[in-house]
Amino acid sequence: MKKRKTILDIGQLKQQGEKITVLTAYDYPFAKLMDAAGIDMILVGDSVGSVVSGYENTLPVTLDEMIYHCRAVVRGSEQALVIADMPFMSYQIDVRDARLNAGRLIKEGGAQAVKLEGGEHMAETIRAIVDIDIPVAGHIGLTPQSIHRMGGFKVQGRQEEQARQILADARAVEEAGAFCVVLEGIPCDLAKEITDSLSIPTIGIGAGVDCDGQVLVIHDILGLCDKYSPKFVKRYADVSETISAGISDYISEVRSGAFPTIDHSFK
Ligand code: KIV
Repeated sequence: MKKRKTILDIGQLKQQGEKITVLTAYDYPFAKLMDAAGIDMILVGDSVGSVVSGYENTLPVTLDEMIYHCRAVVRGSEQALVIADMPFMSYQIDVRDARLNAGRLIKEGGAQAVKLEGGEHMAETIRAIVDIDIPVAGHIGLTPQSIHRMGGFKVQGRQEEQARQILADARAVEEAGAFCVVLEGIPCDLAKEITDSLSIPTIGIGAGVDCDGQVLVIHDILGLCDKYSPKFVKRYADVSETISAGISDYISEVRSGAFPTIDHSFK
């Protein structure tokens, strides 16, 4: 059994100038594969709503669904630090709710940390969760749970005032005790400024080359999501073609009688 990474190991990677690798996973087989490949952190993202459940966005995902996916990912991994996303409305109402729900992701889901979206206005909530010894990852810039305020998935921080707010958000998240912060959908210069000015690691998604680490959605990099492909995604494999070919072969062999053979049967 390998030793699982801790938030201290993740902080050290920034100190040593080593890039931090993060991917999302929602189930046992994917967690097992990326853990064996040596990924530093696995994010059980609420993107599960879009890429697994087929919702239009992440808003319908529930805490119980997150706990279910989290347990599978934790069972499938040995060495990666597992972060569980706090879904929409599981931490926005009050700090008591936020602590209880973060606690469920740790106690029932088995995660080692939680992630929540928001900067300055979520600082008190981050502090409250950190104060009960639950590590928190921040998430600022393009925050998908704010889709209706943002009017879509749009790059944030292009205007000076917005950029200043995102920088203030990053500082507030660090001061509140987060162990790392996801920077999503912001200009690369702003991401560099934030990365240089924080002591905690920045994990970028659509935030350029200067972040301390990168995160992507596993379905996007493997070509398993046909909805849309944002500019920041790089496709490393096209697994859907392989899967479709396997399924078509199965259907035609059953129809033709080529499967099963005597080798697949019991005597
Ligand atoms: O839910 C998710 O997958 C995320 C990443 C895109 C950062 O929050």
